[in-house]
Amino acid sequence: MKKVSMLILMMSLVGLVTSCCTKTDSATVVDEKQVVVDNMLARRSIRAYKETPVPKEIMDVILNCGINAPNGMNKQPWEIRVVSNEEYLKGISDLQKENMDPNSPHNPFNEPGFRNIFRNAPTVVFIATDSGMCSQVDCGLLAGNMVNTAWAYGIGSCIQMGPIRFMKTDVAKPYVDKLGFSDGYELLMAIGFGYPDESPDAKPRDNSKIQYLFED
Ligand SMILES: Cc1cc2nc3c(=O)[nH]c(=O)nc-3n(C[C@H](O)[C@H](O)[C@H](O)COP(=O)(O)O)c2cc1C
Repeated sequence: MKKVSMLILMMSLVGLVTSCCTKTDSATVVDEKQVVVDNMLARRSIRAYKETPVPKEIMDVILNCGINAPNGMNKQPWEIRVVSNEEYLKGISDLQKENMDPNSPHNPFNEPGFRNIFRNAPTVVFIATDSGMCSQVDCGLLAGNMVNTAWAYGIGSCIQMGPIRFMKTDVAKPYVDKLGFSDGYELLMAIGFGYPDESPDAKPRDNSKIQYLFED
């Protein structure tokens, strides 16, 4: 009798564990999907940051998700440099200020709390690419993975092509050289990262750009 009740007890425990797992599994799957979707829809470009740089352990995750993006023939046509060095970021910003038309309507230098030309991000990732046919698309996907992962970790980001215009001028070359990209690679974009110091609303999206075709 003892043996029988022991067996029944064990069987019910197995059943309980199995049913818990099944429930947990299916519940988790649904939640995980929603978490991913919610994260994508909640992400915003951030243009005001706290001063603290992003910890390396978090940058490691962001970068790892970045390089795991799909890319043409897995050529991984990117080189990535992570800079949290204030001296570098301020140096290139000061240089742009010196070389800028003081009457330009886009003058960030007079904005209160100005720290650098990367929207004051404390950590900036510079991405260079080669001239391959898919390379810029690949880097876009790399960047997309990075900004979405960052958001999941509470880290804001802003992809920035604006400062690249200046970084491609002759006067800024010493700063680009310091990034040490390989021959055949050209600076393509900067992405600023940091803890958000603003909560911007979502920018509107135009659903009419999507068309399902040839449906019954
Ligand atoms: C290729 C690219 C270049 C961008 N360049 C800049 C830039 O130079 N400065 C800036 O403040 N934001 C820049 N952005 C951010 C866009 O303005 C932003 O993604 C867009 O307004 C949509 O807002 P959201 O990211 O908050 O959804 C860039 C984004 C991309 C993808």
